[in-house]
Amino acid sequence: MMVCPYDDERLLLILQVDHSRVTGWLAAHWGNDAFARPEPYAAMVLAAQEHDTGWWDWEIKPQLNDEGRPPDYIGSIRHLGLGVWLAFYRNGITRLADQDAYAGYIVSLHAEALLTQGKGLLSYMPGYTVHAEVREFVREQESYREALMARLKESPEYRDCVADHQLWTNFKLMEIFDQMGQFICNRYPFNATYRKNGPSPTLSGIAAPVKTGREDTVLTFDIRDGRNAVVTPYPFDIDPLPVSFQARLVPNRCYESQGEFLQEYYGAERLTVEYALRSS
Ligand SMILES: [Fe+2]
Repeated sequence: MMVCPYDDERLLLILQVDHSRVTGWLAAHWGNDAFARPEPYAAMVLAAQEHDTGWWDWEIKPQLNDEGRPPDYIGSIRHLGLGVWLAFYRNGITRLADQDAYAGYIVSLHAEALLTQGKGLLSYMPGYTVHAEVREFVREQESYREALMARLKESPEYRDCVADHQLWTNFKLMEIFDQMGQFICNRYPFNATYRKNGPSPTLSGIAAPVKTGREDTVLTFDIRDGRNAVVTPYPFDIDPLPVSFQARLVPNRCYESQGEFLQEYYGAERLTVEYALRSS
């Protein structure tokens, strides 16, 4: 979950599953005269929409950190323990791949990227391959993707979308969608400046695919106020693009017990955050 300050007494929590829905919404509206629509479209939107929903295994009953506070998603691998984190990502990937092998393939790449500095794209993130269980997870996912690829190559729907260059383009799109989804969801209001970690306004400098024959380009978020940001160049099919997601308000304190926190978490007041992305 993303943990944001709200006021003197409360924290705003945004679940990874809600961040994932926002990410899917961005993917669904990606594409215009300048930017190619993701291809295969539905599978890429589904991958974006579900890319972190493995977290639901944990978010249905979140564990407090050692200080008795709800933990922010950044640094969570260390706090939750690798075994817990790897298990819920594994579950999320297989659940998705059972529905759609292409989406599952892309999310498997994404999960590996979270452990390997974005497969080279995200140098700001810590790498985790010093841990044997991470190396084992990476091997396991490589082998899982090989099995998925065999199915994709047999699929009339997907067999024309599995060339290496297209998979690499779609992996980069997945990471751009996620960076945007994090940038939008991990601050409140939009112009809050407290967060020093996570994606930068240039989405960590990852160049986004544009269209065939065009150079990838870095997108920049210019936040104008508490609700609006200009995105340059503008990749979406409607302008402005409204973005909304739900968050929970809980008391900002150290909790004495897991049960005390869960009472606040389950019964938390919900707040709907509404932002807009614009071309100018
Ligand atoms: Fe994410």
